[in-house]
Amino acid sequence: MRDEKTVIHVSTREGYDRWAAIYDDEPNPTTWLDARELPALWPALAGRQVIELGCGTGRVLGPLRERGAIVTGVDFAPGMLQKAAAKHPDARLVLHDLGAPPLPFADASFDVVVSSLVLEHIADLAGFFAEARRLCRPGGAMALSTMHPALFLRSIQAHFYDRARAEEVRFESFPHQVGAIVTAALGAGWTIEAIVERIVDEALGEQHPKLEKFVGWPLWLGLRLRRDA
Ligand SMILES: C[S@@+](CC[C@H](N)C(=O)[O-])C[C@H]1O[C@@H](n2cnc3c(N)ncnc32)[C@H](O)[C@@H]1O
Repeated sequence: MRDEKTVIHVSTREGYDRWAAIYDDEPNPTTWLDARELPALWPALAGRQVIELGCGTGRVLGPLRERGAIVTGVDFAPGMLQKAAAKHPDARLVLHDLGAPPLPFADASFDVVVSSLVLEHIADLAGFFAEARRLCRPGGAMALSTMHPALFLRSIQAHFYDRARAEEVRFESFPHQVGAIVTAALGAGWTIEAIVERIVDEALGEQHPKLEKFVGWPLWLGLRLRRDA
């Protein structure tokens, strides 16, 4: 589908497959902020089995491994996973749709579940949190981040600019608000330990060339969850 502003709308999988070639190379204020904020939500990782749901190009697998985690990454975009495999040849990487559970892992196989900047593409939040909890051992944790839902109120969603074709590519997103995310996590049996909403202030806005336009707005939402039993 094409409109006069040369914005095209594609499926999430196709969008990320196309974005994969340049995802790591272009300045991205959301991944920049995520890299700064998400690790604060991680428990100790040395020797832990950690799964990242929606691992993309393996951007987050790097810092997880630096902290000693034994990582598994899952994604449904082959182009993104190829990039991850090039960076992390010894990591276990699995092509699977998070919207089609169960994932091919036994119950309670992981100490920690991580998911970074994926939630807006997940239609069924309840199913997502239930599957994440099934994979996590009792006493384990989940660290989750997402583009802050307030941005949907400004009609901002995941997209990239394809210079070769001179078109902005937008892919399917679901405008879940904070209440829906929290309710789904609680409903699946997670305990919420922390919720972080990072608002871009003037000082933060000066630290990244593309952050200035977000000053005064929350850009990043993070949750740390615990599986009690
Ligand atoms: C914004 S990227 C984030 C990648 C990585 N976590 C990061 O922070 O750099 C979102 C990723 O989620 C993946 N994704 C979205 N929906 C998915 C689904 N239903 N199943 C598996 N992966 C999905 C996309 O293919 C993409 O790689």
